[in-house]
Amino acid sequence: MKKVFALIGSRQKKGNTITFVKNITKQLSNEEFQVEYVFPQDYDIKPCVGCSKCFTNCKCVNKDDIELLQQKILESDILIIASPVYLHYFTGDLKLILDKLAWWAHTFRLQGKPVVVLSTCSCNAFTSVIKPLSSIISYMGGNVIATANASYFPNQINNSKWLSEVSQEIAKRISKYVNLPPQSNKDIEKLFPSSKYMVMLQSDTKSTVGVEPCEYNFWRDSGMLEYNSFEEYLQSIGR
Ligand SMILES: Cc1cc2nc3c(=O)[nH]c(=O)nc-3n(C[C@H](O)[C@H](O)[C@H](O)COP(=O)(O)O)c2cc1C
Repeated sequence: MKKVFALIGSRQKKGNTITFVKNITKQLSNEEFQVEYVFPQDYDIKPCVGCSKCFTNCKCVNKDDIELLQQKILESDILIIASPVYLHYFTGDLKLILDKLAWWAHTFRLQGKPVVVLSTCSCNAFTSVIKPLSSIISYMGGNVIATANASYFPNQINNSKWLSEVSQEIAKRISKYVNLPPQSNKDIEKLFPSSKYMVMLQSDTKSTVGVEPCEYNFWRDSGMLEYNSFEEYLQSIGR
């Protein structure tokens, strides 16, 4: 059974965003896919206090549910991340979750996992969420396989023809990528050299400031440090 983890940025359990997501997931075979939907209020996620310790500990100092959430994301075969547009960006709830995973953006932690990035909006923010969110996912090493926004005007959210065409295409991509090894793409490749350079600067923090550089250790222990591209790295581990 393949696991789809759908992280919804809205608290509306019957809202536009979950409706859009379910239009896609209902196209997936129940025998092949198991889908879990998660809303922000389902988890206790405390605000980021800005201590930056996650960059050296690779975990948050707050005791909350972020580790549980991150485990579920990492265990999934496909991640769907979907948010309504709030003031031309994704919701504060989703930002809070992503802030707590900021160290993932230095370590390509998603390791080529296929990710679908979705948004819904009323009328004037067609790419305000899917663009920045896709960029964050690329920094995190997720392979964005589809993006889509459904708006109220022009009518997409309540337009069954539009919804069905878009949902079918995305479901088709999910079914394809779930059976492929994790993959890189041009966005991840562009980020790889500078991310590697930045993490290598951490290599001697243990001797200079006595702090274990967990992000550097992740690059070293995963083997990424030995490669000049994410693609070569993924090939080397035979995924
Ligand atoms: C606080 C707030 C801010 C919003 N800002 C925008 C916006 O900037 N642009 C836009 O097109 N829609 C905006 N909307 C509309 C929502 O994005 C839209 O209704 C969305 O589909 C709601 O999804 P949901 O039902 O899953 O919560 C806003 C809605 C709220 C509640």
